[in-house]
Amino acid sequence: MKAIVLAAGLGKRMKSSLPKVIHKILGKPMVNWVISSIIKSGIKTQDITVVTGYKAEIVEGLLPEGVKKVRQNEQLGTGHAVMQAMKTIEGNDPILVIPGDVPLIEPHTIKRLLEDAVKGYETLVLTMKLDDPAEYGRVIEKNGKIRIVEAKDASPDERKISEVNTGIYVFDAQFLRNALEKLSPDNAQGEYYLTDVVQFAQKAKKLIIGDPTESIGINNRIELSRAQKVAQLRINRRHQLNGVTIIDPDSTYIDPEAVIGKDTVIEPMTFIYGKTTIGERCNIGPFTRVFNSAIHNDVTIVRSEVDEAVVHNNCSVGPFSRLRPGAILLEGVKIGNFVEVKKATIGKGSKAQHLTYIGDAEIGENVNVGAGTITCNYDGRRKHRTVIGDGSFIGSNTALVAPVNVGKGSVIGAGSVITEDVPDYSLGLGRARQVNKIDRYRKSEKGE
Ligand code: UD1
Ligand code: CA
Repeated sequence: MKAIVLAAGLGKRMKSSLPKVIHKILGKPMVNWVISSIIKSGIKTQDITVVTGYKAEIVEGLLPEGVKKVRQNEQLGTGHAVMQAMKTIEGNDPILVIPGDVPLIEPHTIKRLLEDAVKGYETLVLTMKLDDPAEYGRVIEKNGKIRIVEAKDASPDERKISEVNTGIYVFDAQFLRNALEKLSPDNAQGEYYLTDVVQFAQKAKKLIIGDPTESIGINNRIELSRAQKVAQLRINRRHQLNGVTIIDPDSTYIDPEAVIGKDTVIEPMTFIYGKTTIGERCNIGPFTRVFNSAIHNDVTIVRSEVDEAVVHNNCSVGPFSRLRPGAILLEGVKIGNFVEVKKATIGKGSKAQHLTYIGDAEIGENVNVGAGTITCNYDGRRKHRTVIGDGSFIGSNTALVAPVNVGKGSVIGAGSVITEDVPDYSLGLGRARQVNKIDRYRKSEKGE
C-alpha cells in the first residue's frame, strides 16, 4: 500500500504568506495530522510521498522523518501533482491519494478504504453528504461509472447534488498511470484535475463517510478554527475516557501525542503541547502551559509556564513559576511564586518558594533557597555555574556570583553577595556590617 499526500498548493483563501497545509491545529501542522492518520492506518512511513510546491522548503522542513518528498514546481492542479508523485512510485500496490488539508481524517476511515482496495477496484472514492455542498466537487454515479464535477464547472442542476468528493481516493496503480495520461486542463480553472481520472474507471466504487466533520477540507481560517475545536474535543474525550478529569474541555488544549495518566486533573485554561507526558494523580492548571516536558506522578502545577523541563514525583510548581529548558526538579521539590529555573537540577526536597532566579546551577537535596535569591550566571559574555551542596540554607536576597560553590550544610546570611566559594558547614556573609548612628535623626536642635 502506498500513499500520496498533496501539499503543493498555496491555499489562496487562507490569505497567508505561508503555505496552507502548515497552518497548525493544536500546535501541529495540518499536513502532519494527515500523515499521522495514514501511518496509524497501517501504511509505512517510507511508503508515503508528499508533493510540495509553494514554499516547498518550509513544508519539507516540517514533515516527519522518513516520508518521501516530491516537488511540483508549478501548481497546475491536483492531477498534475499526482503525476509528479507517480514519477517516483514503482510497482502495483494500490495508491491512497489524500489532500494535505483534511486534518481530521481518522485512521479507521482510511483503513476501511484500504480494505476495499484489495477487491480489485480501479478507483475508490470517499464521498460525503453535506447540507451545503459549497465548493466541493459533486459526485455523480451512472451505470456503474462515477464522475466528479467541480463546483465551478457544474450546471445549475449538478450544483444541487449534495453528495460531494472528499478528495480522498484509492487507485489501482496501473490504472492511475494510464488515466493520468488522458488528463487535459480543459475546464473552468485551466488545471489538470485529479477528479477527471475517476470517470475512466470501469470498476469504480464510492464509499460515503458516516461523519463528514472528519473529511472537511480546510480552505480558510474559519474552517481552521472549527477543525481545531473538533480536534480539541476529540482528544479531550479520549483522555476523559482514559480516566483524566478535564474540568473544562473547551478551554483545555492538548497535543494529539501527549500522554496523561489516570486520576490527573486538568484545570481550565491549560495548554499541554509538544511531546509531553504527565503522570498519574497530578493537578495541572488553571492557566498553565506545559511544552515538551516530562511530568511524573503526584505533581501540582498552578498558573505556570513549563518548557522542556522534567518534574519528578511529588513536586509542586507555582503559582506564577517559570521552568525553562533544562530545568530538572527531583522528587518533592517546591518551586513557588515568581521563581524562574533554567538549565538547573534541583535536588530532592529542596525549596525555592519566592522571587528567585536559578540558572546554570546544581542544587543538592533539602536546600532552602530564600526569597529573592539570584544566581548571577552571566558576566556579559559567558554563562557560569553555581553549585549548592545538600542541606544548605541560602538567606533571602542573596546574589550568588557564578562561578561559585556553596558547600553542604552551609548558611548564607541574608542580603549577601557571594563571590567566593563557601566551604561545607560554614556561615558565609558578604555584606557591609550595619552601623547605627545614635540620635542622628532628631527633628530639631532642641532635641524634640
Ligand atoms: C479538491 C477537489 C474537489 C474536492 C475537494 C475536497 C480537485 C480538482 N478538486 O478541490 O473535488 O471536493 O478537493 O477537499 O481535485 N494541490 C497540489 N497541487 C496543485 C493543486 C492543489 O498539491 O496544483 C493540493 C493542495 O495543497 C491541497 C489539495 O491539493 O492540499 C487540494 O487542493 P485544493 O485547491 O484545496 O482543492 P479544492 O478546490 O478544495
Ligand atoms: Ca481543499
